[in-house]
Amino acid sequence: MVAVSVQQVTKSFGATKVLRGVDVHVPAGGFAVLVGPSGCGKSTLLRLLAGLEEVTSGSIRFGEREVTRLEPRERDIAMVFQSYALYPHLTVRDNLAFGLRLRKTDPAEIGRRVDEAAAMLGLSHLLDRLPKALSGGQRQRVAMGRAIVRRPALFLFDEPLSNLDAALRAQVRVDIRKLHDQLGATSVYVTHDQVEAMTLADVMFVLNGGVVEQQGAPLEVYDAPATRFVAGFLGSPAMNFIKATIEDAGGGGLRARLGDGSANLALPPGLPARPGQAVEVGVRPHDLELCDESAAEIHLKVDFVELLGPEIHAHCVLAGAPVIACLETRTGVSVGDTLPLRVRRLHLFDQESGRALR
Ligand SMILES: Nc1ncnc2c1ncn2[C@@H]1O[C@H](COP(=O)(O)OP(=O)(O)O)[C@@H](O)[C@H]1O
Ligand SMILES: [Mg+2]
Repeated sequence: MVAVSVQQVTKSFGATKVLRGVDVHVPAGGFAVLVGPSGCGKSTLLRLLAGLEEVTSGSIRFGEREVTRLEPRERDIAMVFQSYALYPHLTVRDNLAFGLRLRKTDPAEIGRRVDEAAAMLGLSHLLDRLPKALSGGQRQRVAMGRAIVRRPALFLFDEPLSNLDAALRAQVRVDIRKLHDQLGATSVYVTHDQVEAMTLADVMFVLNGGVVEQQGAPLEVYDAPATRFVAGFLGSPAMNFIKATIEDAGGGGLRARLGDGSANLALPPGLPARPGQAVEVGVRPHDLELCDESAAEIHLKVDFVELLGPEIHAHCVLAGAPVIACLETRTGVSVGDTLPLRVRRLHLFDQESGRALR
């Protein structure tokens, strides 16, 4: 296993700047996830790590080794893509062995590694099958097996679960994390799916428009998003945002005058906001809590209810703005109700800069 260190990397294709000075540090043995919307530069960054593209500026090191200008085969990496691209005319065994044979690895050693990888991935009973006789999940496992047999110091994954259905995605996600822990390698994993990012990562890098907007442990980033973008990108349903103006509430306190001005929310003390400032209040749907009328901070009028089983998503309006509250189904909330709610936790963003105020 190696540490990965990307320093001030930029990448342009012609006049198009795709990466604008990216720093990514992953400790040896770490599982890093690069997450962001489509087109933000995730695959480009991964391809730079693999050596499939050349940086425009900046450097990449694996451990002590500078690899910025090295060829892919000199980097000791293995990459798993969204499309498995197995050889259709070769059996699972031969697909797994293919790369090692190309490298003229000793046949006995190839046999050992193929058997070991197959056992890890639960493919041992499928070694003589052709890819067309495998399910989608099994094919993806063979693709991972081809990476594992090479025993690389670094695994690179580019949206490897995108072609699987939802149930399988959840299963293979767990398998990938278990394999990572078992192999003790370093992994860099690219996805646009925030659930994959949250569940897989030791350290998460949220990319937007070719820059890292925030990095950290998944829960750290989820709990304390540094920007409105990160706040809105992580979490499902997405955080509610309500435009607001900061007002003096008297007694040294501040409040946010929400939306159309028909509701206020007292702000916790110590926030670096000033009266008159244009902000957005962010509240996660799970941070709205039904309470007694006497304890209510806000009232929401319910205009639609989605029933998900143990919880409901109540679609409401607050001071003219749409707001979703996630509540337990047993609360019996229904359309037309006016709900007294407490806000467990609120986030505040400067409207102009999008930065969190905290
Ligand atoms: N070889 C290329 N030539 C020109 N533009 C490219 C090339 N590869 C990627 N891009 C552009 O770079 C941006 C980021 O692409 P990519 O890294 O694939 O994004 P992501 O993987 O986050 O969806 C996109 O706008 C894409 O069109
Ligand atoms: Mg991509």
